[in-house]
Amino acid sequence: MNYFAGRINNIIDAHDLPDINCMLQELSPDSAVVDKKTLCRFCEHANTYIILACDEEDLGEKGFAKERGRIVGMVLVNFLRKWTGVYGFIDDVVVRKKYRGKKYGIIDKLLSEADTLALHLGARYVDLTCGRKPERDAAHRVYLRHGYVPRDSIPYRKKY
Ligand SMILES: CC(C)(COP(=O)(O)OP(=O)(O)OC[C@H]1O[C@@H](n2cnc3c(N)ncnc32)[C@H](O)[C@@H]1OP(=O)(O)O)[C@@H](O)C(=O)NCCC(=O)NCCS
Repeated sequence: MNYFAGRINNIIDAHDLPDINCMLQELSPDSAVVDKKTLCRFCEHANTYIILACDEEDLGEKGFAKERGRIVGMVLVNFLRKWTGVYGFIDDVVVRKKYRGKKYGIIDKLLSEADTLALHLGARYVDLTCGRKPERDAAHRVYLRHGYVPRDSIPYRKKY
């Protein structure tokens, strides 16, 4: 397995969209499809980082996956500067079904890479939210194992 971490525009291009969309479907079947335009907008955000796990033994059909292999795991991290310092926000955590479990250890490596990024960028905290649905149970166990602690606050959201 190969791992890549960095600013999203340095790591991903349009060739990766089929893989990214597969992953988003596994994360949530009602995810919107990411197209080239969305990817371009995304890449304008200098503070958006992505960490990928790629299977170098699965190169996909010609023109579909890159030489580095199919993307089989990802974590997105946005860093934000507040008055009190730099904070990271983790989103879109997913490992392809076939690659889940301790045999591969992909999520452990992805989250360790997120720690390395956060330390490198001087982040004080990294936050994330994880739903209460039963299909998120494995994710909750993963986050607790990696030192994420439930917060005593209620997340709010306004829709536009
Ligand atoms: C959350 C997620 C990234 C964790 O990756 P993972 O590879 O399953 O992580 P782990 O190796 O720690 O396995 C987690 C648990 O699921 C079990 N598991 C789930 N699917 C498995 C599979 N196909 N093979 C083996 N074990 C599996 C593991 O045994 C483990 O159990 P444990 O916590 O009792 O030890 C992954 O399950 C996933 O992509 N889930 C769907 C998307 C999601 O929920 N994302 C989080 C959004 S907040």
